[in-house]
Amino acid sequence: MQTKHLIQIDDVKKSEIEEIFALAEYYFQKNKKKVEQKHRLKPFTQINVFFENSTRTLASFELAGKKLGGIVQDIRIATSSIHKGETLIDTALTLNAMRPDLLVVRHSSSGAVNLLSEKVNCSVLNAGDGSHEHPTQALLDFLTIQHRKKEKEGLIIAICGDISHSRVARSNINLLCKFNNQVRLIGPSNLLPYSFKDMGLEIYNSMEDGVKDADVIMMLRLQKERMKGGFIPSRREYFNRFGLDNQKLSLAKDDAIVMHPGPMNRGVEIDGIIADDLNRSVIQEQVEIGVALRMAVLHLLVDRKN
Ligand code: NCD
Repeated sequence: MQTKHLIQIDDVKKSEIEEIFALAEYYFQKNKKKVEQKHRLKPFTQINVFFENSTRTLASFELAGKKLGGIVQDIRIATSSIHKGETLIDTALTLNAMRPDLLVVRHSSSGAVNLLSEKVNCSVLNAGDGSHEHPTQALLDFLTIQHRKKEKEGLIIAICGDISHSRVARSNINLLCKFNNQVRLIGPSNLLPYSFKDMGLEIYNSMEDGVKDADVIMMLRLQKERMKGGFIPSRREYFNRFGLDNQKLSLAKDDAIVMHPGPMNRGVEIDGIIADDLNRSVIQEQVEIGVALRMAVLHLLVDRKN
């Protein structure tokens, strides 16, 4: 892999994505066997700096780094000096002085991770910046799709819900379109930026129309922490119109799969019955593949020449 940082999907070429997936596949199989990993990697230090709360993404990166034999340090900002008034740049300089090989950064502002990457010497991996991008989530989503669908092109993929505030949606759109898939966006018009129309994406305000014949349905949470003001009349009405239930799912292809990056709100964007239906829902697979995918990305960034 040539890129030093992974901030957004456009940082990686198609061939590099294939390289990440091949290595992720290797780690996925290896993680299933409870054998000791033999590390080919040189010793490395990884600092996970999370300015926003996270459960699965932080745990996934932490586990991935440790499984590769790295020294992994988590910094959760709730207990850090950011709350004592330190600027992002000063934080970056402080972390840089600790000479890590990798910084995994999550921040509530779009562009903050990129800014930080310009101030440090090591590789920086974006674990989600504002509503901009979350590249490893999109990569693990796409690998999960390939596991189930055995295809990477020509699929109809419906992304549903709060698209406006979703970094997961943005990274997925960029990735899935690179591989010539048909991406549909579904949501209430105030949560759906029409600018995506210019990218050739189909936009729907009706779930029934949007999920018709879809191969993959990706549900998103209402990201209230990024909303200024009220965007939906009530949770019940939102569920009736945009929540995925069996009736709406029956309009998709018979073998359509259902995805969700988590955290999921049952009874708001998804019916709990669907979330628990292992024939349809690949939500747990996303989490498992996520660890392997992050191991692959960390490995390739640590291993890069120069
Ligand atoms: C997503 C995120 O943080 O952007 N979750 C995740 O990384 N697993 C989606 C969300 O918060 O809704």
